[in-house]
Amino acid sequence: MVDIDKFIRPHLAKVQTYDPVDPPELLAKQAGIPEDQIVKLNGNENPYGGSPKAIAAVANTPLHIYPDPLQRKIRQALSDYTGASFDSIIVGAGADELIDLLFRLFMNPGDKMLDFEPTFGMYSFCARIAGGVVEFVPRDELFDLDVEAAKRAIDDRTKIIFVTSPNNPTGNLASEANVRELLDTGLIVVVDEAYFEFCNQTVSHLVDEYENLVILRTMSKWAGLAGLRVGYGIMNPKLVKHIIDIKPPYSVNVAAEAALVASIEDAPALLKNVRKIVDERDRLKDLLNEMPGVTPWPSYGNYILCQFAPGKAQEIFKQLASRGIFVRDYSSQRLKDCFRVAIGTPAETDAFISALREVV
Ligand SMILES: Cc1ncc(COP(=O)(O)O)c(C=O)c1O
Repeated sequence: MVDIDKFIRPHLAKVQTYDPVDPPELLAKQAGIPEDQIVKLNGNENPYGGSPKAIAAVANTPLHIYPDPLQRKIRQALSDYTGASFDSIIVGAGADELIDLLFRLFMNPGDKMLDFEPTFGMYSFCARIAGGVVEFVPRDELFDLDVEAAKRAIDDRTKIIFVTSPNNPTGNLASEANVRELLDTGLIVVVDEAYFEFCNQTVSHLVDEYENLVILRTMSKWAGLAGLRVGYGIMNPKLVKHIIDIKPPYSVNVAAEAALVASIEDAPALLKNVRKIVDERDRLKDLLNEMPGVTPWPSYGNYILCQFAPGKAQEIFKQLASRGIFVRDYSSQRLKDCFRVAIGTPAETDAFISALREVV
């Protein structure tokens, strides 16, 4: 017998892995409820789905030809949509792939990244896989960035700082002044704007001014393409070139390409759905505010972080799951009394609220 364990790279032998969400059929089975009756609010997915034009475009796409490694059509479509230049755009199999590629590009083993916790878990996960060291910088009591603490944490191994705006799961924005201060450190600053369309706040106009700024966006949320895996970055063209050089050439598949182009063409209709989600977010927040025992945090994304009395969140989470209502829970000390609920349709909000009333 060969001992295959000895071949595993030591830093990957035992790694703290990412905690992803389970598929609907499994959630339904666990709850003992038919799949079409569960309310899935744990992935910040778009309750209205993708554009019918994107679905038609996928159906009409030949599947036997490789995608364009230089992504000409989709980068042009995104240039038209964002106003950023063609050569400042790169597309990945989800923003997730670009997060991974950024660590591959910048991090030597032992290099550090700064992570403003609590935040999206993918950054620290990818940093660890790359052999990097994650330096957590706690957010302040309102979940705002503690820029002074970040600056104090920087040493000669620090390479990259991740900022999420709006932050997942806390929902708040990073101010342009704070982002500028981080950029002025001269380190690579990645601003993840996955939820841009739900708030229309961006620092992408700073890309021309700062070569060290990377903006990440995705088609998963506003365009409802989470299952197809397509996200993009806006950054200095020099960085785009480096990413193209190291990227698996065909990672963005032809179905995702076709859906992206059709979604951009259908953006006015998709942005109407975004408007409905934003209105529903406000309605859900008002309903939560009326309910004793729960505090909703203000949110600029398509989700709300709900905070409960100490020690209560886990039990409420379990009770909701047993009724077929799935939200996202957290084990970290800072968020142990919270869960995050995605904004669904009005009917899903009503189901969530009535179950929550029962269990709180
Ligand atoms: C802040 C943030 N960035 C990136 C992503 C992942 O985006 P994608 O689906 O494009 O990989 C998510 C998904 O939840 C997210 O919350």
